[in-house]
Amino acid sequence: MENVIGVSLFKDIRQFLKEKNKKNIFLITDENVSKYYLEEILYYLVPFKTRVYILEPGEKSKCLKVVENIYMELINYNYDRSTTIISFGGGVVGDISGFVAATYLRGVDYIQIPTTLLAQVDSSIGGKVGIDFGKYKNMIGSFYFPIKTFIDIDFLKTLDRREMTSGLAEVLKYGLIKDYDFFRYIRDNIQGIYDFDEEILIEVVEKCVSIKTEVVAMDEKDRGIRKILNFGHTIGHGIESLYDFSKYKHGEAIILGMMYESFISKEMGLIDEEYFCEIIETLKDLVVPVHFSNEDITKILSKMSHDKKNLDERIVFVLPTGKNKVDIFDNVSKENMRKSLKGDWLC
Ligand SMILES: NC(=O)c1ccc[n+]([C@@H]2O[C@H](COP(=O)([O-])OP(=O)(O)OC[C@H]3O[C@@H](n4cnc5c(N)ncnc54)[C@H](O)[C@@H]3O)[C@@H](O)[C@H]2O)c1
Ligand SMILES: [Zn+2]
Repeated sequence: MENVIGVSLFKDIRQFLKEKNKKNIFLITDENVSKYYLEEILYYLVPFKTRVYILEPGEKSKCLKVVENIYMELINYNYDRSTTIISFGGGVVGDISGFVAATYLRGVDYIQIPTTLLAQVDSSIGGKVGIDFGKYKNMIGSFYFPIKTFIDIDFLKTLDRREMTSGLAEVLKYGLIKDYDFFRYIRDNIQGIYDFDEEILIEVVEKCVSIKTEVVAMDEKDRGIRKILNFGHTIGHGIESLYDFSKYKHGEAIILGMMYESFISKEMGLIDEEYFCEIIETLKDLVVPVHFSNEDITKILSKMSHDKKNLDERIVFVLPTGKNKVDIFDNVSKENMRKSLKGDWLC
């Protein structure tokens, strides 16, 4: 699988489809993305038979019912094995489009055009596709890679600040798990990122894609080292579900998760005070940490005990063990978890 990272990539996309002799295109997007960019992309898709399927924005579209509707439309319009599905949107559109591509007629080609920072640095890379099932997130799915991913930085200009912050969570995570110099670079250039400085954004996205690709290549099916990508996600998911996924965006909860988990790491003697403070100083400017009440802590811990990463009922954490380094632990004491979420360490 190859990625193209740059700006103004519509022409390249058309060229690629022509070279691959593609004729039947089924484009999946959502209402927000189509409002900004549908007309433009359709102009470039004129040479092909193209139908568009527009999702309602948001996680609720990532469900079996919507998948059924898309299958129905594909069948009604005689889309056969030569179909190419184009996923044009954020992670929701990407996950569902990839799932449809993986399963329709036992698999058809698909292309990813991720339009959020989170999708560009995370969800469009690594081949995980899927949908939610009832209240269970990402419960049904597969591993299925697109034939090409076009990452166009231009799309980020229409994202609001919270969506950028949400993507930045994963960006910072890559720095903390694998590349301390990159972490410093992001910290020093955070304003440039929010100001859509093209050069900085391209550098950042390229780095993230290369880190994620490298980790995924070592463990495509997520049985081992790929788990390190979950730094911040054990507590982050607990916080997301405490508020029924409504108060915080995914990345915002992950920023909180990385702070609380870094505290656990410091308490266990895995990182020193100086590094801990550096992490907190950087992250707390993006999302304000909270002192959770005892009642909320109990609820968060209960959510965490149902995490998919857990083994034999032990809660699994990815914790920093130094600069550029994290490791996987299942021996964190409940007392440490509680102490961390209580937040008395916050200044
Ligand atoms: N497959 C994976 O490996 C993987 C990894 C991480 C997350 N995910 C999934 O990704 C999803 C989250 O992705 P997301 O954060 O991109 O959410 P999203 O797709 O819901 O997009 C966020 C919001 O931004 C809007 N939007 C998208 N592009 C835009 C643009 N260019 N300008 C203006 N608005 C735009 C969308 O309409 C939506 O309202 C979750 O479902 C999560 O489970 C998957
Ligand atoms: Zn994440």
